[in-house]
Amino acid sequence: MVPIITIDGPSGSGKGTIARLLADRFGLHCLDSGALYRLVGLAAERASVPLSSVDRLVELAAGMEVAFREGAVFLDQEDVTLAIRTEQAGNAASRVAAVPEVRAALLQWQRNYAREPGLVADGRDMGTVVFPTAGVKIYLTASPEERARRRYNQLKEKGLDASLARLVAEIRERDERDSSRSVAPLLPAPDAQLLESTSLSIAEVLERVVSNVQRVYPVLVKQGA
Ligand code: C5P
Repeated sequence: MVPIITIDGPSGSGKGTIARLLADRFGLHCLDSGALYRLVGLAAERASVPLSSVDRLVELAAGMEVAFREGAVFLDQEDVTLAIRTEQAGNAASRVAAVPEVRAALLQWQRNYAREPGLVADGRDMGTVVFPTAGVKIYLTASPEERARRRYNQLKEKGLDASLARLVAEIRERDERDSSRSVAPLLPAPDAQLLESTSLSIAEVLERVVSNVQRVYPVLVKQGA
């Protein structure tokens, strides 16, 4: 069994940042599962496929040619790194993610990322559904206001347009949709370590996760040191 670390939590909790830093620290693969749902959402919008056309959504999800290269994301060879990060793409992702057949189409794809020397996977259901046997499971959260503020700063840094009030409202709406859907709802795994990060820096969150990883997978420390 390869070492697997899952980091789940609501949007803007910092799980993507922590996952990448952790993967770098230990030299592991990194799976940004939210990007897959964002890609399906974008592909569906571009092809004007409504949510009710489940067969066509599944076809899109199964047929996408996706590549992650040096921090960039490609969909059918087009660089969509920025296009999938907009709030609109996030909302489209959250809607397609509520379709059980779309989730099923992406399941094996995600599991294929579990390869030597190990994987850090971030999302909503990494510890509950996709990698239930992961050795380290983190559930990272923060207040909706703090998460909206972080997202606002990220968007501004990328030169994208944003309104803080609208972001708070959208984050609450997305939390509600992600938590109340019937399939793979946003929930901590029973064996996850809960980390409330509202008043913690990225470095502080990382330190806590790193010590947990070292305890469970001592072999990784040697590889990363
Ligand atoms: O994490 P990120 O904000 O990129 O995810 C976008 C959307 O994709 C989420 O709001 C959620 O609805 C969906 N998602 C999911 N399961 C995952 C990852 C993301 O349902 N494992």
